Amino acid sequence: MHPKRQKLWQDVAIWQDDFEKRLIDLIGERKLSVKNVVSIEDLSLEDIELIFDCTNLFKEFIVKPDRKINLLKGMSQINFFFESSTRTRVSFELAGKNLSIDTINVSGSGSTMQKKKESLNDVVRTLDSMHANIIILRHARAGSPAMIADQIKAPVISAGDGWHEHPTQALLDIYTMQAKKGAMERQKVVIVGDVKHSRVAGSLIRGLNMFGVEPRIAGPPTLMPHGLEKVFKCKVYHNLEKAIKDVDIVYALRIQLERAAGADIPSVREYSKCFCITPDRLALAKQDAIVMHPGPINREIDLRTEVMEGPQSVVEEQVENGFALRLALLYLLLGGERR
Ligand code: NCD
Repeated sequence: MHPKRQKLWQDVAIWQDDFEKRLIDLIGERKLSVKNVVSIEDLSLEDIELIFDCTNLFKEFIVKPDRKINLLKGMSQINFFFESSTRTRVSFELAGKNLSIDTINVSGSGSTMQKKKESLNDVVRTLDSMHANIIILRHARAGSPAMIADQIKAPVISAGDGWHEHPTQALLDIYTMQAKKGAMERQKVVIVGDVKHSRVAGSLIRGLNMFGVEPRIAGPPTLMPHGLEKVFKCKVYHNLEKAIKDVDIVYALRIQLERAAGADIPSVREYSKCFCITPDRLALAKQDAIVMHPGPINREIDLRTEVMEGPQSVVEEQVENGFALRLALLYLLLGGERR
């Protein structure tokens, strides 16, 4: 081997060895209390602290030029996505590959479910029989990840189920909020938009409540689930100007037109007139407020381009943190017996 290349490989081996040692030291005797992550409420606050601690370390990892590390070599991860996805699917796949897991992607249309009408249960039990080590599932039906988690030996992570929950999105969002603003209990948060059809909101409101935060929820009454204030600790507003006043964090949701949100509003134009985050509306929040969005963004409907690309936006940091967090979560769920 060329001496220059040899030196490069030696350097990689040294930092990777050091990284693994630091990871093992950081985790110590701690381990997650759960096998599956299908709801954010499955996790305890200690679990979330452990995930966030490891995410901090994986933030160093994701900027390394050569980051395929041998931590979970020989394991297999099935990404089972029945709905479209860019950020979530790619970050789970890349995280698996960077940890040296064999990753396999199965889409709804490419599986035997669509053409041959095999049930979801039978498909995942087949995958379980091949000793897949973990299944990541995104499905249009609420409750699908919980249902399969009950049937199989492999851990299951929900990558979003219908209008219900998207736990890893809430984890990366709360991680980002803390990283930018400090302790959660001091933060005033407003979540804006189509809460009724949003699994992101489903997990985020639950997660914020676990951290003692009672978010403000702003949107048209027709896009609010009935009894929201009775089920969760939150305050509902139908006027965005009031809801956004003096908040630290503005979280805009995507209007879910593919989930019939269009039937709940007079028109998209009317909706954006009242609920789009514009520079004027953002000026009502605290001066150093941050703006978040899970993506994909409907520009000029959920967020004005100036806001999305402006200095208060942390949308790209959310994506970066999501990648580090999914590396951490996979390692914590699968790395146990290797430590
Ligand atoms: C979300 C999803 O698909 O649930 N996107 C994501 O995972 N980042 C949000 C959305 O589609 O609005």
